[in-house]
Amino acid sequence: MDFKTAVASEILTAMNTAFEGAELPEIGTVAGALEVPPDTALGDYAFPCFKLSKSLRKSPIMIADALAGAIHADFLGKVESVKGYLNFFIDKATYAEKVLSLALEQGEAYGADNSGAGKTVVLDYSSINIAKRFHIGHLSTTMIGNSLYRLHKFFGWRAVGVNHLGDWGTQFGKMIAAYKRWGDHDTVAQGGVDEMVKLYVRFNEEAKANEALNDEGRAWFKKIEDGDPEALEIFGWFKSVTLKDAERVYDLLGVKFDSYAGESFYNDKMEPVIQILRDKGLLKEDQGAQIVDLSDYGMPPALILRSDGATLYMTRDLAAAKYRKDTYNFDKSLYVVAYQQDLHFRQLFKVLELMGYDWAKDCEHVAFGMVSFEGGALSTRQGHVVYLDDLLHQAIDKARAIIEEKSPDLENKDEVARQIGIGAVVFFDLYNNRIKDIDFTWERALNFDGHARACSVLRKAGSESAAPDFAALTDPYSQDVVRLIEQFPDILKSAVNRSEPSMVTRFAVDLAQAFNKFYYENKVMVDEAGTRAARLMLTDATRQVLKQALYLIGVEAPERM
Ligand code: ARG
Repeated sequence: MDFKTAVASEILTAMNTAFEGAELPEIGTVAGALEVPPDTALGDYAFPCFKLSKSLRKSPIMIADALAGAIHADFLGKVESVKGYLNFFIDKATYAEKVLSLALEQGEAYGADNSGAGKTVVLDYSSINIAKRFHIGHLSTTMIGNSLYRLHKFFGWRAVGVNHLGDWGTQFGKMIAAYKRWGDHDTVAQGGVDEMVKLYVRFNEEAKANEALNDEGRAWFKKIEDGDPEALEIFGWFKSVTLKDAERVYDLLGVKFDSYAGESFYNDKMEPVIQILRDKGLLKEDQGAQIVDLSDYGMPPALILRSDGATLYMTRDLAAAKYRKDTYNFDKSLYVVAYQQDLHFRQLFKVLELMGYDWAKDCEHVAFGMVSFEGGALSTRQGHVVYLDDLLHQAIDKARAIIEEKSPDLENKDEVARQIGIGAVVFFDLYNNRIKDIDFTWERALNFDGHARACSVLRKAGSESAAPDFAALTDPYSQDVVRLIEQFPDILKSAVNRSEPSMVTRFAVDLAQAFNKFYYENKVMVDEAGTRAARLMLTDATRQVLKQALYLIGVEAPERM
């Protein structure tokens, strides 16, 4: 139970006494209605009684009066009835006690509720392309998806993480043709994706002068489509080489998936979907191609079959959406993909709706902006590509150099360098509101701590047996920390509801900053045992909440740095 729920529970108890037999609202509704008044002279919390007027058949003023008389919980401090509002002047010491005790009692579960119990969310994230290197453009989808995965699980959802691999398209025919001409097994096995990219680039270079090469590429792709064993074997091997490379990055990032069903997985699952489109009269011919007309919805048509009968990205996504509903029976299906694909997803969801699937409304495109690296662009065209594994290793090296300078005696330097380096990149990536374009600089990324400081304070203190004197936590710095810890559950709820992990990242920054201020203003290890115990308790709760917040955005928090 978080603090707001504790307040709500007292209000309900009072309602029960004051209005015997009346139908009471849900506790969540009461907690959700609690407001923080704009002016602290009006109290720390206000409960508006207007909405109760109808069910209780009394004026809001009468309700507030009656409730004010019936509330007896000490921790709520002074309670006033003012113009239909019930205002609470919570006693600062009791507030600190209540919030910190709740947080520490609940430990890792603090901030969660079971609102997701029995529900399933499917998350499509990372979704990299085969035979391409994992570049920084795929970092956001990977980390936002990973965070949303953890957040949903935290609230009791069953989460299914899908890496919808880009493993279909004519370019794979070209790659096989290039491999057959110039490649050899060992070079590709050793060089990995880089070697495949080289082959592909060479193919396109030479095809400019030699049109016959393109026919060769097309022929190999046809072979993949027709299930030719040699074609499938080479292609399957390209896939496993790419995934092995990607796996290293996923390991560094601590990211996992439950399914790697990518585009090619839907090869035999599109026909029934196309049939449904046809049966429902949604398919139209347009210059030999099959389309779904979306002009009534202000969108260009969705292309389903090309004039040569080939299926498209859209066709595969339609089959994938239906497969996910049939297989997982999701309550929510999220697609964490850059905003450039906004139109694609609006079309996809509209076509699903036109097919009569009411679950189309449960599908959501979680869009985000592109990341740029120290002001530069990231596209291959501009020749300024930042590969993710390079970036991560650079980050680890930088962290390592900083550790060498600042804490040369640290024991597990490599481990901590990895945690900080990776953490800095991820943290930075998830700091911005999703939709903004992000400009990455090292200085900003390496700028986080707080958890390690709290751990260090606690380590030096050892065990503390004195009873905390919460009056020591009534200064503004302590209260700021307490208030943030109290808000944690609400922040997490909003982050899940809005699919916005940056809310958690910002919270972590705010809490770390508030704690730093507290730490500079208040000495923790004072002689007075009650004060010391209270400040240690606040430090411990901060450590626990920060660690949890970082975990939920996919960042490991080192205990020493
Ligand atoms: N592979 C695609 C890309 O890199 C992203 C796929 C997203 N998921 C989907 N179901 N369309 O752009």
